[in-house]
Amino acid sequence: MKKKMNIVIVGLGNIGSYFYNYLKKNKNTLFNKTNIVPNILYVSARSMAKKRNIKIPKRLWLKNCISATKIKDVDIIVELIGGAEGIAKKLVFEALKNKKHVITANKALIAKYGDQLAKIAEKNKVNFEFEAAVCGGIPIIRSIKEGLIANNITKIYGILNGTSNYILSSMDQDKLEYKDSLLRAQKLGYAETNSTSDINGEDVASKLKILTALSFNSFINNKSILVEGIKGIDQTDINNANQLGYKIKLVGVAELLNNKIIQRVHPALIKKNSYIAKINGVLNAVIAESKPVGQSVLQGEGAGPGPTTSSLVSDLCSVMRGNIKFPFVISDKKRKLALFESINNKKFTVYLRLDVNDKHGVLSDIAKVMAKNKVSIKRLIQNPTSNKKNASIIIITHDAKSSCLDRIKNILLKKKYTVSKPKLIRIENI
Ligand SMILES: NC(=O)c1ccc[n+]([C@@H]2O[C@H](COP(=O)([O-])OP(=O)(O)OC[C@H]3O[C@@H](n4cnc5c(N)ncnc54)[C@H](OP(=O)(O)O)[C@@H]3O)[C@@H](O)[C@H]2O)c1
Repeated sequence: MKKKMNIVIVGLGNIGSYFYNYLKKNKNTLFNKTNIVPNILYVSARSMAKKRNIKIPKRLWLKNCISATKIKDVDIIVELIGGAEGIAKKLVFEALKNKKHVITANKALIAKYGDQLAKIAEKNKVNFEFEAAVCGGIPIIRSIKEGLIANNITKIYGILNGTSNYILSSMDQDKLEYKDSLLRAQKLGYAETNSTSDINGEDVASKLKILTALSFNSFINNKSILVEGIKGIDQTDINNANQLGYKIKLVGVAELLNNKIIQRVHPALIKKNSYIAKINGVLNAVIAESKPVGQSVLQGEGAGPGPTTSSLVSDLCSVMRGNIKFPFVISDKKRKLALFESINNKKFTVYLRLDVNDKHGVLSDIAKVMAKNKVSIKRLIQNPTSNKKNASIIIITHDAKSSCLDRIKNILLKKKYTVSKPKLIRIENI
């Protein structure tokens, strides 16, 4: 008789319903690849009465999803609800405690409770898999855990959010203002109605924290991370960047510098001809720098039911093949309390945009503020604005400490001649 593993899918929304259909249609293919039949024993969601685009036999419905964690025949629970708290948290904790394998696409949950959950999974010798939580269909987690296992990673970075990348790309290519670009992303289904976490950098931050822990054998660090989103970027910045030979991208970067890890998420000016600058639309790209292999690049669809299902199935096959591994590459006991550092001491070249009253003495005052705070000017451009009384000053600085650059921004904000919030965008040589 064919050996089978019993699966419960909890959450039948965008991802869950596609995953359900995929398993139904590809049962035999997956058996051929793993020698195990993936058997959907139950499904569960908030409402059984809801109209769905999939047909589910009534006998498969489980009213209370938490009860799945106590059913003896259940081997694997696939959590596709979402959110760091509430029912998703309860389900995953209970499942692992009751020795069920867990597969989830829930980045918010992993970024917050991943360490605790991994510890329980290791103790109970079950899989805790979350490939789909970072960059949709890109197999970055499995690459770090397996393909790159021989390597020491020193830096991992990239474009980790398709919605914000789509917005920035259409602001650049179609000259749309931020608001119109966001609306278009929502109409096309790339951005959710509530796309706050995509826009404010929190979604990238969750993914970056997970990648950092995996890359540097550290625990997840929620404290030392800079998180800035794309809301402040406007058409003037996009044009200025183009004129200077750059594109603006929202990047996530984690790097090891002097044995300390720095995590940061922010918009950056990136040289037009670089690989990252050419990643447009909803695409994601992740680059790992490691020894001895050098640079590895993974690019692909960062979200959506198809790509996410690709990663979920990869996790499922790992479980079915009996490939029980430590969720974060190495044993919980061997993970490090690594040192994390804020970006304050890191040096950056930046683009500083100051919209000011076009008065005598303003430029020399700005130069004085900069010199006093140890920031030197590499390039200065003054552009007229539609209001003839004002001018837009673009300064490209030399390398300067992040803390000094922030101080300058705050001092200039308070000057009487400043007409709008100064804008500081880091220039990234990647
Ligand atoms: N969408 C993407 O492109 C994408 C990409 C990568 C990862 N993810 C992650 O995948 C997960 C699911 O995302 P999604 O886009 O599929 O979300 P979704 O469309 O909002 O679906 C959520 C599902 O959870 C169910 N649910 C909500 N509360 C519940 C409760 N109390 N008990 C049982 N079920 C409950 C809902 O039930 P009803 O259907 O009855 O309302 C719905 O089926 C999230 O963690 C998300 O971050 C999504």
